[in-house]
Amino acid sequence: MSQATCNSTNHSLLKNLTEHFKLTVLENKWIPHQPHPKQAQFLLLRCKEALYGGAAGGGKSDALLMAALQYVDMPGYSAILFRRTFNDLALPKALMDRANEWLSGTEARWNGENHTWTFPSGAKLTFGYLENEKDKYRYQSAEFQLIGFDELTQFLESQYRYLFSRLRRLERSPIPLRMRAASNPGNVGHDWVKQRFMTEGLTYGRIFISARLEDNPSLDKKTYVESLSELDPITKRQYLDGDWTARHGGNIFLREWFKIVAEAPAELKLVRFWDMAATEPKPNTDPDYTVGALVGEQNGIYYVLDVKRIRSGPPQVEALIKQTAQLDPAGTRTFMEQEPGSSGVGQIDYYARQVLQGYSFWGIKSTGPKAERAVPVSSASEAGNVKLKQAPWNGVFLDEFEGFPQGAHDDIVDAVSGAFLQLRVKGDVRAWTFG
Ligand SMILES: Nc1ncnc2c1ncn2[C@@H]1O[C@H](COP(=O)(O)OP(=O)(O)OP(=O)(O)O)[C@@H](O)[C@H]1O
Ligand SMILES: [Mg+2]
Repeated sequence: MSQATCNSTNHSLLKNLTEHFKLTVLENKWIPHQPHPKQAQFLLLRCKEALYGGAAGGGKSDALLMAALQYVDMPGYSAILFRRTFNDLALPKALMDRANEWLSGTEARWNGENHTWTFPSGAKLTFGYLENEKDKYRYQSAEFQLIGFDELTQFLESQYRYLFSRLRRLERSPIPLRMRAASNPGNVGHDWVKQRFMTEGLTYGRIFISARLEDNPSLDKKTYVESLSELDPITKRQYLDGDWTARHGGNIFLREWFKIVAEAPAELKLVRFWDMAATEPKPNTDPDYTVGALVGEQNGIYYVLDVKRIRSGPPQVEALIKQTAQLDPAGTRTFMEQEPGSSGVGQIDYYARQVLQGYSFWGIKSTGPKAERAVPVSSASEAGNVKLKQAPWNGVFLDEFEGFPQGAHDDIVDAVSGAFLQLRVKGDVRAWTFG
């Protein structure tokens, strides 16, 4: 996707982020809920495609309905929200029922025949379904500025892709064109959704926001967790933790996916990523390691060239990081996981000024759970696109990857996932999001 799609428009209403959010969400009389922070993040996005995905009850459907209502005061605006079947749409508390709760008694008018709310501005919000492949042709001549899918993993990729052709606006309209989806992991579409948003997402500017139960303080978490406790362990991980790597019968990594090579090509894009151990080692414990993984990429093939692993106090860690930067090939970009809070800022600043002065070095705040960050590495290695340079660390590496995420350690996986992320980003991620 072109960056331009996500860049600011020239319309004054949409010029200022705070003003934009205030007008289209906080002061929007059609939206009775105040968005929680993750929902707000979702509503602030202006890139073309985004998925709010993860735990059941995280507030995903609410956020989708809010997104659809964002511009209903603007004449000509048209939004559509899909569930796979009409019955799914009409269930109590599902999208149509929820919209009814929000909008009945207002000046918006409901047409039960075509399942459309019309607002005083003339803007429309329609509810649709795509039970069979041919259903998509019912929307053939329509045109929308927001197309939303609730429970995206219940849809086929072909249905989702077809609807792109209905995403259109008039010349110079300030309203962004948005494909928005909400979903739990699992279901028939799990693999294509994961591939589209988590594996390829960053490359194409498709934003994935991960939903957790904790993100929705409006839900009675205790009773909800109790009611999910009867589920099998995999479904529980999908629904309760929003874990996209949990698959019935599926592994995240198999050791045979990684081919060992004697040599790697000379012309590689190189990233060294340091995953820092949070605590200092104590006797008789099995603490985390600090791990620095050097990963190179060329034409979509990744080479893990070196892994440094240390379990020592800060002076030894610092000495290793400095020495490693001195020995890494010229052109290597070095990244370090930035711990939350001011101590993290201080540590990065210290490394930038004192330890790695003169090297290309950045601190990176990690996002989402480790298992989620490992998804692109998992997909690439399954496709045979991750190779290991033959070295003594290979055995430890393969053991840790094979045991992930249940194993005792995950620091190498995390460092490699961090390096992957930096190698895959094209352009500047900040250009795709606000905040
Ligand atoms: N910002 C909010 N303010 C008030 N209530 C909210 C808010 N967000 C969500 N809720 C309420 O919390 C409950 C769960 O939210 P929602 O149905 O959107 O979650 P979900 O992630 O779509 O869940 P599921 O995975 O089960 O579909 C709903 O009753 C919803 O109305
Ligand atoms: Mg929902």
